Amino acid sequence: MKKYNVCIVGGGSTYTLGFLKSFARMQNEFPLNKLVLFDIDADRQKPIGQYGDIMFAERYPELDFSYTTDPKEAYEGMDFIFMQMRAGGLKMRQQDEHIPLSMGKIGQETCGAGGMAYGMRSCKDMIAAIYDIRKYAPDAWVLNYSNPAAIVAEALRREFPNDTRILNICDQPENVVRSTSRLLGCNWEDLDPVYFGLNHYGWFTHIYDRKTGEDLLPKVREIVKEKGFLPQDAEQRDQSWLDTYGFVKTMLEDFPDYLPNTYDGYYLYPEYKASHLDPNFTRADEVMAGRESRVFKECAEIIKEGKLGDKFDAISDAHAEMMIKVAEAIAFNTNERFILIVENNGAICNMQDDAMVEVVCELGINGPRPMRVGNIDQFYLGLLVQQVSAEKLLVDAFFEHSYKKALMAFTLNRLVNDAKVARKLLDALIEANGDMWPELK
Ligand code: NAD
Ligand code: G6P
Ligand code: MN
Repeated sequence: MKKYNVCIVGGGSTYTLGFLKSFARMQNEFPLNKLVLFDIDADRQKPIGQYGDIMFAERYPELDFSYTTDPKEAYEGMDFIFMQMRAGGLKMRQQDEHIPLSMGKIGQETCGAGGMAYGMRSCKDMIAAIYDIRKYAPDAWVLNYSNPAAIVAEALRREFPNDTRILNICDQPENVVRSTSRLLGCNWEDLDPVYFGLNHYGWFTHIYDRKTGEDLLPKVREIVKEKGFLPQDAEQRDQSWLDTYGFVKTMLEDFPDYLPNTYDGYYLYPEYKASHLDPNFTRADEVMAGRESRVFKECAEIIKEGKLGDKFDAISDAHAEMMIKVAEAIAFNTNERFILIVENNGAICNMQDDAMVEVVCELGINGPRPMRVGNIDQFYLGLLVQQVSAEKLLVDAFFEHSYKKALMAFTLNRLVNDAKVARKLLDALIEANGDMWPELK
């Protein structure tokens, strides 16, 4: 069986430990020859790399594992490159969330003004990274889930129009399917969803039982009405995530047609959401105090002891597993179904062809084959056309260095929605981002 070479860009990410453990756990189904971590921040990546050295020596001794800040060392000979960079780091995520909230607007990692601010930084760094990758690994598959994935996907589509081996993915639709399976008391892999939307803005029109073909959505609606909605891994989640998932109940009461993605809450209830977020302690603060400090504490403990022993915790990591299974589908040409971000080209019939949409795809060695959704109803079409327009205008602003286009993007985004506020926000974010953004004229 062929063994694969994989690189993780953003080796110092809080998600890397989950990947290292998952690659070790999945070594029989997806065998690796070489695994390299790459980051621009050597100090941040080092403890994660040292953890990997210890863990793999015990669990995967034949694996050639290393970590580096040198692109050539990282990319040469790679089959798959998993991209999980955070342009500007969690400190800038904090600014993305705090600045809009200080003006009464939602501050969120990927939605609204904060998401657009992050988008400008990510487009710049992701494009530069992909040029580096293509210099050393022209044929590698690039699996990108760096956020904001919708905006990054649009920018990559324009900058690399002929590159058919860049795939943009988000785990949230699958997280919602997994959560639904917990509610139904079944295995999530027995569910066969139909989904449409943009990244972090979509709906499930059907949740079929894979064996019987029954549409379980009516049942799901009834159960959510009675019991609410929880993430599949609720026991490991912070309160803010439990609240976000819990809000699915409200959305289903108001808009019962389809099961929503959890992120829809920001777009459907912007005023309610903004008034319930704490401007001085947002999700970025919670992540720094929680996940980030837990990950680096875990590394420090293992490095101090010099061995893992029985500390290889058995809890699986849904995010890493999904991304590895995406690589498997390509490597083994399985044509398994995933919900992926692809160019529309008629999948949602009444949306423009060049929108980057999120739909169910079959995935194999030649990339994703989107499954047709058909026409979507006016309400959803209205919401999505507004958002896709905002995203496209932001990417125009990025490439054309256009303040005017950025102002249009901010004004059009439902979470800003007012030109005067848009201008104030844009000016504050230009100031906060300095040369992490292109200069807008
Ligand atoms: P983090 O800040 O902990 O980690 C990001 C790492 O990327 C850091 O070590 C940083 O030094 C590194 N980095 C920054 N710019 C880089 C560059 N140009 N090249 C290489 N490395 C670079 O962030 P995190 O919370 O672990 O999240 C990582 C990324 O994964 C984010 O973009 C996040 O939004 C994304 N993510 C996406 C999904 C999804 O489903 N789409 C799920 C989880 C996380
Ligand atoms: C989900 C989304 C990702 C997002 C992450 C944020 O997995 O799909 O796109 O980055 O949640 O999680 P956090 O815990 O950092 O707020
Ligand atoms: Mn996502």
